[in-house]
Amino acid sequence: MSGQANTLMPLPVAVHASQGEFAITPAVTLSLGEAHNSLLEAAARRMMERLQMQTGVALAHDPVAGVAAFNVSVADASATLPALGMDESYSLDVTSSGVALKAETIFGAMHGFETLLQLVQPEGAGFVLPAVHIDDAPRFAWRGLMIDSGRHFMPEDVVLRTLDGMAAVKLNVLHWHLSEDQGFRVESLKYPKLQGMGSNGDFYTQQQVREVVQYAAARGIRVVPEFDIPGHATSWLVGYPELASKAATYEVQTTFGVHDAALDPTRESTYMFLDGLFGEMAGLFPDEFFHIGGDESNGKDWNGNPKIVAFMREHSLKDSKALQAYFNLRVEAILKKHHRQMIGWDEVLHPDLPQSVVIHNWHGPEFVAEGVKQGHRVIYSQAFYLDHMTSSGEMYAADPVPVSLNLTPEEQKLVLGGEACMWSEHVTGFTIDSRIWPRMAAIAERMWSPATVRDTEDMYRRLAVESLRLDALGLTHISGPQRGLRMMAGSVRGAEELAVLTSTLQPVGFGERYRMQKTTQLTPMDSLIDFTSPDPLSAHQFGLLVAAYLQSKDATQKDALTKVFQHWVDASAALDAIAVDHPLVARYPVRREQLIQLGQMGLAALRYMDEKKAAPADWIAAQKALLAAAAKHAELVEFAVLKPLGSLVDAAAKP
Ligand code: ACM
Repeated sequence: MSGQANTLMPLPVAVHASQGEFAITPAVTLSLGEAHNSLLEAAARRMMERLQMQTGVALAHDPVAGVAAFNVSVADASATLPALGMDESYSLDVTSSGVALKAETIFGAMHGFETLLQLVQPEGAGFVLPAVHIDDAPRFAWRGLMIDSGRHFMPEDVVLRTLDGMAAVKLNVLHWHLSEDQGFRVESLKYPKLQGMGSNGDFYTQQQVREVVQYAAARGIRVVPEFDIPGHATSWLVGYPELASKAATYEVQTTFGVHDAALDPTRESTYMFLDGLFGEMAGLFPDEFFHIGGDESNGKDWNGNPKIVAFMREHSLKDSKALQAYFNLRVEAILKKHHRQMIGWDEVLHPDLPQSVVIHNWHGPEFVAEGVKQGHRVIYSQAFYLDHMTSSGEMYAADPVPVSLNLTPEEQKLVLGGEACMWSEHVTGFTIDSRIWPRMAAIAERMWSPATVRDTEDMYRRLAVESLRLDALGLTHISGPQRGLRMMAGSVRGAEELAVLTSTLQPVGFGERYRMQKTTQLTPMDSLIDFTSPDPLSAHQFGLLVAAYLQSKDATQKDALTKVFQHWVDASAALDAIAVDHPLVARYPVRREQLIQLGQMGLAALRYMDEKKAAPADWIAAQKALLAAAAKHAELVEFAVLKPLGSLVDAAAKP
């Protein structure tokens, strides 16, 4: 793009830069041509508002008639609801005289708006769009994010801002996990004891659900609800124990993991209930697809009930897997009646399952292979578990069509796309953004851009820019943790010192936290771990700086590194002082002390290299011991800067 930085994310299929640019001035207006569609008009207005915010140029927000600087033309502007397989392509032409955005549907045009906003670059005292021709269309039709509102309830405003972020990176499915052992989260008028007794008061009213579905549709995003059955369903049984496989009194669960409670698949009344509920829910969720979960049903309450065991014998169902397959067939027929296509997690895969059922992969890639070989469409999630704290780079390297499987072209077509999963054992509405973003943007690119787009470093470069854009849009992955640190430190200054510490840290993985903290729904989720970022960009940038310095021994890079290490030392000392009367800061003595040690290590290594003196063997040994100690899990956080530091120490040994 004429010497300007390409910060588009996801990367379009084709970007051809040319000479020139278009300046953003107050004269810029937008025309939708002949298209009349209230969703498109609202999207155009939002785009102009955001452009105004990005540039500080006062702009008319309402579309104008006739020809304008920005001309949008949509071939068929009749759509009001996004659907699987909709045409999402668009092309964008920027010349010195204006912008032409062409799309087949309003949803393609919306993607074009997002690309347009990402093209804006500063130039001189103002902002421009570089001259460019872009042709773009998604690689996969299904590009989703799953939000678990069951284990921790996510207030409506959290869901809405998440939809804004999703639209910004061209995602098109919100998979909404709405029932769990820990809560039934949607108002049912037909079965009011579901939310009335199964949610502790935290549920979405039907009006709120309609708002979310409408807000999503206005951004080209489908909403696919999940009601997880037959397991993960304790909350249903609090108000309706007659649905249970074991006669008992049920309570909303606060502990996580796999619970034994399950719906009774042998009683007709269970299916009548599901018919009633799913019919009601189909009225709320217009999308063609409906997720029934089906994961982690352990069969214990089935095998422990003589009536259910007898039923299995009568129907020649040899084990709980076979019984679950029977259950799934019955549920599938109910959903068909309500014109919905069933989706289930890997566990629903069974030779008897109708091919129309979509398999949602979360186990190994062999389940993707198994699903498509049995003729099912598959959605891939296995490597995209955001709660596992995997790095952006690792998730970016994965693929909804795992190369290792050698799928045929026909089989590959059955992979609809993928979804990132944000399970909520360890997040609340306050902290969920920093677990989703910015990593979600890297996964979004994997699902949108051509499979050949693989440059991880270039992804990280663009991700750093996109992360700021997303926080400005209203997400809180940067601003939320800053608020959290201010709360912990009790002052703006103290929070800045804590932020130096958190810039070097990341949360321990899901399993480590679960084991170390024995987390339940009642565990406070507002400590240091909650205000650190998985795969922090600061640590990535530190790694690049160290690598660049080791390559060049350049003085500017040395000065930059010296500053970083001095910050660590100074912040750690300042935090020791703050900790005296701030209990929330006092909880992290190990990491505070190690931060000083690591800072001093870096400063000393730079000194040795500067003096071209090999560091003495006892110093090297002491640093290795410090690095090993710092690599141990402590205080629920781990250092994200140890590898580059280790290479500095190694280099100091032989400058
Ligand atoms: C799952 O992660 N239990 C689908």
